[in-house]
Amino acid sequence: MRHGCQTIIASRNLQKLTEASQKLSAATGQRCLPLSLDVRQPQAIVSAVDEALKEFSRIDILVNNAAGNFLCPASSLSFNAYKTVIDIDTLGTFNVSKVLYDKWLRDHGGVIVNITATLSYRGQALQVHAGTAKAAVDAMTKHLAVEWGPNRIRVNSLAPGPITGTEGFRRLGGRHAESSGLYQTIPLLRMGNKTEIAHSVLYLASPLASYVTGTTLVVDGGSWLTTPNDFPSLLGIASHSSKL
Ligand code: HXC
Repeated sequence: MRHGCQTIIASRNLQKLTEASQKLSAATGQRCLPLSLDVRQPQAIVSAVDEALKEFSRIDILVNNAAGNFLCPASSLSFNAYKTVIDIDTLGTFNVSKVLYDKWLRDHGGVIVNITATLSYRGQALQVHAGTAKAAVDAMTKHLAVEWGPNRIRVNSLAPGPITGTEGFRRLGGRHAESSGLYQTIPLLRMGNKTEIAHSVLYLASPLASYVTGTTLVVDGGSWLTTPNDFPSLLGIASHSSKL
């Protein structure tokens, strides 16, 4: 929004969305429309996109950011817990991309940025649900980049590392994550911040990336290369954060 976009934000909780949209508008002077939807319900997405197009008359950029996650060993995951994360992350990304393609992008072009994760690169312990869900989204990024490139649609993924001040960090890093010194295992010796992710999405969404499609940009300070993937010690984290 600081770089000129009017924005629509969508999630299940309209109260949180409304507060966020007011903050974003106050900070940037741009319009922000909050829309309530569940990415698992295609009909709700159709209605939301219809409303968005009525309000703004065009949509140039889609950021698929919805994700469910928690730390849990595969042996303790219920069938429904695994399915829930696949439904939100993988099917949700497809559902929203497809609806927006049908209603706008096919005829006008645009940019899709899918927020994914590095979890599958090393088979991160306690993350089989989110790791497989996000790996599927990285595959989807390539397939859609190939099929939709001729329609002037670029599709890329962005895989963040540990980012302070986020819901994901609170849930996945454990209660003491920010003060635990875990950052010392990251090559850049610190956690990332939200502005760094925003700037990286801005790059992929902007004309600066006009010849970039079908790829994943990892924005994690080198974290996935070096951070622990040790089942017993990570279980210590899971025991006090998985039920947040
Ligand atoms: C084990 C759990 C669980 C937990 C839920 N479930 N939480 N299982 N450990 N902590 C199980 C439930 O028991 C249930 O299975 C099934 O999951 C569905 O739960 P519901 O509560 O009915 O579903 P729903 O409300 O739709 O969604 C639940 C949720 C969601 C997916 C857990 O609340 C959620 O994840 N919110 C967090 C969103 C978030 O923080 N996203 C950012 C992720 S960041 P049963 O069998 O009992 O019916 C990220 C980045 C990773 O992913 C990379 C970092 C480096």
